[in-house]
Amino acid sequence: MRIFHTVSGLRDALKVHRREGLRIGFVPTMGNLHQGHLALIEQARGSCDIVVCSIFVNALQFGLNEDWDKYPRTYQDDCDKLAAFGCDYLFHPDDTEMYPNGLDTQSRVICPTMTDVLCGASRPGHFEGVTTVVTKLFNIVQPDEAVFGIKDYQQLAVIRRMAEDLCMPVEITAAPIYREADGLAMSSRNGFITEQERPNVVVLKQSLEWIAEQIHAGERNFRELEKLAVERIADAGFKTDYITVSHSKTLDPAAEDDLEITILGAMFTEAARLIDNLSIRLD
Ligand code: PAF
Repeated sequence: MRIFHTVSGLRDALKVHRREGLRIGFVPTMGNLHQGHLALIEQARGSCDIVVCSIFVNALQFGLNEDWDKYPRTYQDDCDKLAAFGCDYLFHPDDTEMYPNGLDTQSRVICPTMTDVLCGASRPGHFEGVTTVVTKLFNIVQPDEAVFGIKDYQQLAVIRRMAEDLCMPVEITAAPIYREADGLAMSSRNGFITEQERPNVVVLKQSLEWIAEQIHAGERNFRELEKLAVERIADAGFKTDYITVSHSKTLDPAAEDDLEITILGAMFTEAARLIDNLSIRLD
């Protein structure tokens, strides 16, 4: 695996492959790679000739009181994992390489739909930071395909919408959620869960599944189901950020006759904010 820290170095290397007509796949990450990230690499490996991964902990998508400084940075371990999973190129820029003019005057990419609800409501500016850095990374790598995890369902929806709105010549593909043995969705933030909390955090996934079961059984009072799920989470000792039964494409609150539904949730542990989601189809 070749590693580049500069935009120009990576661009020069990829230019050669582009001229050869090879399909370039891209997996953007913030590092601290787990099995879920490696599955994205494997997916890109299966459909592309060249696989590029980026590791950049993007300050622009963290709020002032969020965990940018505490975000786990495990560079050497990440490099070993990526090399073992057949990644061809790693792009690992520093802040100055990505934001040479500083953050305050950085031009931004704004996606006005789906960004101020759910995670966007509790993390103002987060998605603007994501769409801006992803656009920059797309411009640097110029991938044919970019793979994102379904775990960040809203992020995936926003990026798809951005790519469509801005005619970005990249195919956005999705990879399934990777879970621990008890069902907890893999996340770089799981390392912040305490030993005491760990057996109970699966309540988030279980609450989403419980809602899905009720809907399959015919219940259509979605707002009531959301309320009851929040109570289950509180009983397990956690504070809910949101639980919503949403339309899978628009992320608007689902209506009774919607057929494609995604149940999304976020809850707080003492030091982490965990998210999960579950999509169902009603015929
Ligand atoms: O999902 C992530 O890890 C980040 O939001 C991304 C897409 C790499 C942008 O910084």
